[in-house]
Formats: sequence, structure tokens, C-alpha cells
Amino acid sequence: MTNYLVRSLVLSLLHGKNCNRLVSPLTTVRPAETFCVKHQNYLFLGISQLRRTLSTSSSSAETGLAEKDPKENSDADGAERQMGVSQENGVVVSSYWGISRPKITREDGTVWPWNCFRPWESYSADLSIDLSKHHVPKTFLDKVAYRTVKFLRIPTDMFFQRRYGCHAMMLETVAAVPGMVGGMLLHLKSLRKFQQTGGWIKALLEEAENERMHLMTMVELVKPKWYERLLVLTVQGVFFNSFFILYVLSPKLAHRFVGYLEEEAVHSYTEYLEAIESGEVENVTAPPIAIDYWRLPKDATLKDVVTVIRADEAHHRDVNHFASDIHFLGKELREAPAPIDYH
Ligand SMILES: [Fe+2]
Ligand SMILES: [Fe+2]
Repeated sequence: MTNYLVRSLVLSLLHGKNCNRLVSPLTTVRPAETFCVKHQNYLFLGISQLRRTLSTSSSSAETGLAEKDPKENSDADGAERQMGVSQENGVVVSSYWGISRPKITREDGTVWPWNCFRPWESYSADLSIDLSKHHVPKTFLDKVAYRTVKFLRIPTDMFFQRRYGCHAMMLETVAAVPGMVGGMLLHLKSLRKFQQTGGWIKALLEEAENERMHLMTMVELVKPKWYERLLVLTVQGVFFNSFFILYVLSPKLAHRFVGYLEEEAVHSYTEYLEAIESGEVENVTAPPIAIDYWRLPKDATLKDVVTVIRADEAHHRDVNHFASDIHFLGKELREAPAPIDYH
């Protein structure tokens, strides 16, 4: 068991796992339902290929298979059918439970390739947001939060120096943690106290997901080395637990800390943009995932991607300082409506 865990860890560090991997829709299922989803500028035509193995006969229960198109009933997949699975592009999909991915298209009719987010979760970043806003630390807790963030900046700057892409990628592995911790704790509090939370669970989880998408974008541009993966493992273990305890003890300090962290993120992405504009960093083509997630033009570049990510960070800054201010006023988050649906 120990050997297995060690081997898994080493393989994970060496090769990693990318959740952007395209998982193709099931092709073994029969179309049974058509639906149309309209959202903002998008019109999505989808064919939900629901197929349920309703029969409880012993044969279908053993194989876990529903009907297949005759042309697909080849001997080649006979072995797969014996196991109750369908395999396409290296992805093994069970067909027993009748769960399938609807066919979703972009506006131009091309197939939507992402499973990690859907078209209605894409958005245009608010580029008009004030990037220079700064919460002047006034109280003792403000100063603790501000100086802690400034102190943490020193070793990260020393480690990454002018490797802007790598710095951004590593920053995102940390930035995606607070929203998840805060959202989780508010969720549990809501259950314990039988209370609404004013949308704050959703707002914080949206932030965590948005930060994770920043990471999924950056990892398309910068391939992390094994020692960077090891660093992420270590930092995540320390940071998740530290932030969890901090949020339990003082949510106002936790949100203030994140607010200053986001101010630094805006600063870091501004430096990244300056490096692109000066030619120090090549302005490469934007990754396809970024073009779809932020509704960027097809010829978008790294500069466009960094610009929208920076706008997101400024939004996170405002949300977290706002959350901290609510606590400083002696109120609970649920007493002020949460800024949801930005992302
Ligand atoms: Fe981010
Ligand atoms: Fe952020």
C-alpha cells in the first residue's frame, strides 16, 4: 500500500493530470431527447443522448449495456461491452447508468469541446474595473493582513524573479484555495444554524472556480516542472490548513488577507503585461480554453488573456475587502447580498 502511494505520487509529479483533457461525448448512446438552451448571446442546440438500461433482466444487468447503433455493434467493441464500458479517445465511460453528455455547440455551430465548463459559464471580464484601488490598512488586523501578504511576496519574488508565467501559475494554485475554504465553512454554518447565507456560499465558490480556471489556462502556457509540482503539494498542505484555521477564528482577517493577496495578484499581472508589451515575454496565441472561457476573439493573444485575468483579480479584491468590511461593521455576511454571477 505504501509502495503504491509513493509510486502514485512520483507519477503524479512527473506527468501530472490535466483536467482540461477533452472527454468526448458518448457515442454509444441513442439520441432520445432534444433541447434548446438560450443564454445571453449564445444559442445552444443540444441533443441529450439519454439511454437508460431500464431492463432488469439478467443479461443487461450483467453487461450493463443499452442499445447501440447497428454500425457500432462491431466485434471490436465486444470485449468492452462485456465489461459494460465504452472507450473512446482513451477515456473509459460506463454506459450502465444512462449518464451522457449532451451535444453542445458554439454560436458558429462547432462542437463545444470542454467538459470542465459550459458555454453559459463563460463570460466577458469587466475591463473597466479600477485596477488601482487599495484598501489602506487602518486597524491592527488590517495591518497584520497587509504585512503578512507583503512578507510572503519576498520569497516568491526571489524564487520566480522574472519568470512571470511560472509565478502566475503558482500563484493561482494558492489563490483558488480561500474561496473554497470560505464557501465550505459557510455551507456548514448554514446547515448548522438553519440559515440562508445571502448568496455568499455561491459567491465564494464562484471565486474558487474562477481561480481554478486561471490555473487551467496558465498550465496550458507553462508546463510545471516536477519540483514545482512538489512545491505546490507542500504549499497547498500548509496553506489550506492555515487558512481553514484562520477563517474559523477570524473571517474578517481571512477576507482582508485575501483582499490584499488579490491586490498583489493585480500587481503581478500588471508586471506580466509590461513584460509582454516590452517584448521580454513572447505574446503567443491564447490557449483555446481561454478563448472560450472569456469569450475572447479567435485571434486573441497572451496579452488579452492576462488582461482579463487581471480584471478578475481586481473583482476578487473588491469582493474580499467588502466581505471583511461587513465583518468589521459587526455584521454577518448574510446581512449583505453577495456579489454573485460576475463570473
Ligand atoms: Fe487568479
Ligand atoms: Fe483572484
